[in-house]
Amino acid sequence: MKRTLLLGGAGFIGSALARRLVEDGHTVTVVDDFSRGARDRLPAGIRVIPADVRTPGWRIGLRNEGTDWLFCLAGVVGVPNVESAPFRTWEVTTHAVMAALEIPAAKRFFASTSEVYGYAPPAPSERVAVSVPDVLAPRAVYALAKLWGEQAFIHRGEPYCIGRFHNVYGPAMGIDHVIPRFCLQLLNGEPLHVDDPTAIRAFCYIDDAVEAILQAMAVPTSEVFNIGNPTEPVTMEALMGRLKRIAGQAERPVTEGHNKPGFPRVRVPEIARLWLMTGFTPKVSLDEGLARTYAAYRRKEA
Ligand SMILES: NC(=O)c1ccc[n+]([C@@H]2O[C@H](COP(=O)([O-])OP(=O)(O)OC[C@H]3O[C@@H](n4cnc5c(N)ncnc54)[C@H](O)[C@@H]3O)[C@@H](O)[C@H]2O)c1
Repeated sequence: MKRTLLLGGAGFIGSALARRLVEDGHTVTVVDDFSRGARDRLPAGIRVIPADVRTPGWRIGLRNEGTDWLFCLAGVVGVPNVESAPFRTWEVTTHAVMAALEIPAAKRFFASTSEVYGYAPPAPSERVAVSVPDVLAPRAVYALAKLWGEQAFIHRGEPYCIGRFHNVYGPAMGIDHVIPRFCLQLLNGEPLHVDDPTAIRAFCYIDDAVEAILQAMAVPTSEVFNIGNPTEPVTMEALMGRLKRIAGQAERPVTEGHNKPGFPRVRVPEIARLWLMTGFTPKVSLDEGLARTYAAYRRKEA
C-alpha cells in the first residue's frame, strides 16, 4: 500500500486516478483549489486539502510527512481557459512544480502535454526536438510552462516520471474541450462547430490513461513517456460523424471556423517507449469511449 499525494487531484484525470488508487488499496491525499475540479467526483475515505498551490501555507505539514507517490496534476487546462488567463497558466504550473519538488516523495509524476511538440512530426517519440510555433500566441505559455516543469523534475536529481498526455477524454472532463463541446451541441440541438474539419487527433479514454500512468510510475527508472492512444487517429470531421451516429442525429449541420495561431494540424502520439517498458496497450475503442462519454453528458454528469 502506498501513500499518494495528488496536487490538482480533484480534476478530470486526478479524480479518476484517485478512484483507482483507492480501489487498489492506497491512501490518497488530494490538494485542489476547486477552480475546476469538483469535490463530489472524489472517492470517499480520502483526505482533501482545499488550497491554491500558489499560496505557501498548505504544504508545511506535508513537507514533514513525506509520501510514496506524488502526482503533480494542477494546472489551467483547456485552450479557452489558457487563452483567457495565460499568466495564471504560468503561475499555477510553476508553483505546483516547485511545491511538488519541495514535498519529500519516493517518486514524483509530472503531468506534461503533447503541446510541447509544437510543429514536430505527427507521431513524435519522446526524444524529438520540441518547438513553440508562436511565442506570442497566448497558448504558447501552456507548453513552455510544462517544458520548464519537465526540466525541473529531470534535474531535481530524484526519481520521476513525466507523462505527456495526448487528448485524454471521458465523462466529467468539463466543457472546454472538443469532445464535450460536440456532445453538448448535439444534446442542445445546436449545429456542431469546428475550426478545422481536416485536423487530425488521436483520443485516449480516461481509464486507459489512468492505467498508463500507474504502469509508467511502476517503471523503476526515471522516464519521459507519451501517454495516449494512437490506434484510431481521426479527422475532426470523422469524429463529428461518429458522435452524430452515436447520438442518432446524422443530419445535424456543421459550421466551420478558422485555425488559431499555434494550432497544430496533426497530432498523434507514439507510445512505443511506454509499451516496450511496461507492455501497456490501450483497451477502450474510440466508439466505446465516445458512447460512454456522450451517455454521461446526456445524464448531465459533466
Ligand atoms: N486532459 C488532457 O487531455 C490533458 C492533456 C495534456 C496535459 N494534461 C495535464 O494533465 C493535468 C490534469 O488535467 P485534467 O484534464 O485533469 O484538467 P483539470 O482542469 O480537470 O484538472 C486540473 C486541476 O487543477 C486544479 N487547479 C487549478 N489551479 C489550481 C491551483 N492554483 N491550486 C490548486 N489546484 C488547482 C483544478 O481545480 C483542477 O482540479 C494538467 O496538468 C494538464 O495540463 C491533460
